[in-house]
Amino acid sequence: MPAMKTLENKVALITGAASGIGAETARLFASPGAKIAVADRDAAGGHKVAAETDGHAIEMDVTSEADWKRAVTATVETFGGLHVLVNCAGIELVKSMAETSYEDWRRVMSVNLDGVFLGTRAAIGVMRKGGSIVNISSVAGINGFSRQVAYCASKGGVRLLSKAAAVECAEAGLGIRVNSVHPGIIDTPMAQEILGTVEAKMRGEIEARWKLMHPIGRIGRAAEVAQCILFLASDASAFVTGTELVVDGGLTAR
Ligand SMILES: NC(=O)c1ccc[n+]([C@@H]2O[C@H](COP(=O)([O-])OP(=O)(O)OC[C@H]3O[C@@H](n4cnc5c(N)ncnc54)[C@H](O)[C@@H]3O)[C@@H](O)[C@H]2O)c1
Repeated sequence: MPAMKTLENKVALITGAASGIGAETARLFASPGAKIAVADRDAAGGHKVAAETDGHAIEMDVTSEADWKRAVTATVETFGGLHVLVNCAGIELVKSMAETSYEDWRRVMSVNLDGVFLGTRAAIGVMRKGGSIVNISSVAGINGFSRQVAYCASKGGVRLLSKAAAVECAEAGLGIRVNSVHPGIIDTPMAQEILGTVEAKMRGEIEARWKLMHPIGRIGRAAEVAQCILFLASDASAFVTGTELVVDGGLTAR
């Protein structure tokens, strides 16, 4: 699919860019001539995507304040600025409330919510000529799902963090927009990992259930989410801030 030209000459830092939605976003952003910083804790995967996109690989852990400082500084030094941040790094946890240890809870909140806070704050600090921050939440940031208490809480936090940051940036006249994206189930290594945790004989049933959850009748593709991220990252959405873009084949419309 041809990409919008609107990211030409812009610098984008994408976390979680070694895999799934983040990697597809890096590939899509690369085509209009944007400069891409490919950030991930998976160094090998990050280098692979950076090579494909003519990007700059940054090994980082989004839960580390020091790593954020280093990543943002490296991006600005390498490319001369920062215009777009996509906070895509995230982890899943499928456990009942009783099975969720406090350590599990903290790990999920730390990557999915603290990471987005640290990234959003670090980007706002260097986006001198305005910018766009796109935070990847989930349908689980809007609705509650069984056996996903920590994940839902973290993604719900991302939704309101984004709205609060959007209002604050707009009122301060910074020219920085902040929005969240809420995918349904998307065929990525994360979804495959969840399938891998269930008994082999149950997998077909789970996949059928996943399809039925989406009125469109299938799960989504990473490239379909990347198109929505591109819209929010680009000037095509210049009057859009503090909103949630749901990309879920109708799942939450029911
Ligand atoms: N796949 C889905 O069904 C789905 C649905 C809704 C939302 N999401 C969200 O979309 C985002 C991307 O998910 P995906 O499906 O592409 O997953 P994925 O597992 O394919 O990719 C996630 C990437 O994040 C990186 N990562 C994880 N923890 C990190 C950390 N602490 N520091 C740096 N990098 C880290 C991983 O190394 C990986 O490359 C996540 O935030 C996820 O919660 C996914």
